[in-house]
Amino acid sequence: MKRRTFLKNMMAAGAVGSLQTSGLISLVSCSSEKESSTLPSSSDYNFDEVIDRTGTWSIKYSRVEKMGNDIIPMGIADMDFKTAPFMTDAYKARIERDVFGYTHTPQEFYDCIANWESKQHDWNVTPDDITYIPGVITGINLAIQCFTEKGDKIIIQPPVYNPFKSYINKLGREAVDNPLKLVDGKYEMDFEHLESIIDDKTKGLILCNPQNPGGITWNKETLSQLASICAKHNVMVFSDEIHGDLTLFGKKHIPFLSVNEDAAKVGIIFSSPTKAFNIAGIITAHTVIKSESIRKQYVEYLESGKFNEAPIFSLISTITAYTNPTDWLEALKAYIEKNVEFVMDYFKTNIPQIKPYKPGASFLIWLDCSELNLEQKELADLFSEKAKLVVNNGAIYGPGGEGHIRINIGCPLSVLKKALDHLKEAVST
Ligand SMILES: Cc1ncc(COP(=O)(O)O)c(C=O)c1O
Repeated sequence: MKRRTFLKNMMAAGAVGSLQTSGLISLVSCSSEKESSTLPSSSDYNFDEVIDRTGTWSIKYSRVEKMGNDIIPMGIADMDFKTAPFMTDAYKARIERDVFGYTHTPQEFYDCIANWESKQHDWNVTPDDITYIPGVITGINLAIQCFTEKGDKIIIQPPVYNPFKSYINKLGREAVDNPLKLVDGKYEMDFEHLESIIDDKTKGLILCNPQNPGGITWNKETLSQLASICAKHNVMVFSDEIHGDLTLFGKKHIPFLSVNEDAAKVGIIFSSPTKAFNIAGIITAHTVIKSESIRKQYVEYLESGKFNEAPIFSLISTITAYTNPTDWLEALKAYIEKNVEFVMDYFKTNIPQIKPYKPGASFLIWLDCSELNLEQKELADLFSEKAKLVVNNGAIYGPGGEGHIRINIGCPLSVLKKALDHLKEAVST
């Protein structure tokens, strides 16, 4: 604890970087900050490379392996890029030690997350606010079990990442929809409807920030208003921020707890480097909780089930991702932006009946296909049977998802182009 306080003070004084470079808090052999003059340039990363994922137990590619090579997978949300070279170097370094015994969570796990929040999202988090969790969805599910009872209501704001609803229901709680509304072609939260559906049984709301599938980066006013309503009615906010490190086109990610006192009182942030660094198969995630009483109750709950003990490669992943220079992440985001622009232009020129929403974050694009005037089953068949693309059917994301499809564009441009050519052909025949 003394060391933690010491590090906290050092962080406040901006001295953690020098501790890292001096090796004092660097237990993984990867990750001291390098001088910018020695950084690789973005052209050193080849996101055009088509990587072979066969035989890796990839969920995304399991259908390709079954159905043949003409299928292009654009479904489940991981990217067809190698992870950053420094991630692989860090894993290799540990493997070469041949040491895999029981492992405690080192102080640098907490410090690097606090440092990352401050540098990436201009937000002051202390290491004591942070806890390891075994995945974002698992962490949210554990919070639901910790803070709510069977029969309680939890609000979600569809169209939204579908596991929210399915796990709320599987856990014996009731998922209640507060659908987003479309105003001038942009999604907004419906606060009037929100207040009208909150009752004594409503104990929580799951916020998707940024929103999957729409790639919406919520602004401060929206998040503040949400926080104030939830605080007024004693509704906890479980804020899923897993896509927050992938903001595009100069947009900023605003952590929910940072917006006002109300948010800090009622909220928990669930986040992870797994999306941004493309390491979803190595499970690692964390919470940030400002309220001491919420944190105490949640941490005790995690401890009672041994859920907060991180595996070695989870620790290495988070520490490595958050302590290396950000040039790889910047190069990745620039590549995704290029893919987004390509998709926007492609639809406009070649398939104008389908309207893509330009995402403010991440590598998923939400397509409004309503002008095709197809039943949802016909729309799904158009993409899967005719165009041979594995995509996500918009209807699974709840009300507002009908007539829509979600595609994953986290792949080399050559693959993306081929996929859209398949679709153009399918739509025109
Ligand atoms: C919004 C959102 N939350 C959570 C997850 C999954 O997170 P985890 O693998 O840490 O449970 C995903 C994956 O697609 C996601 O899009």
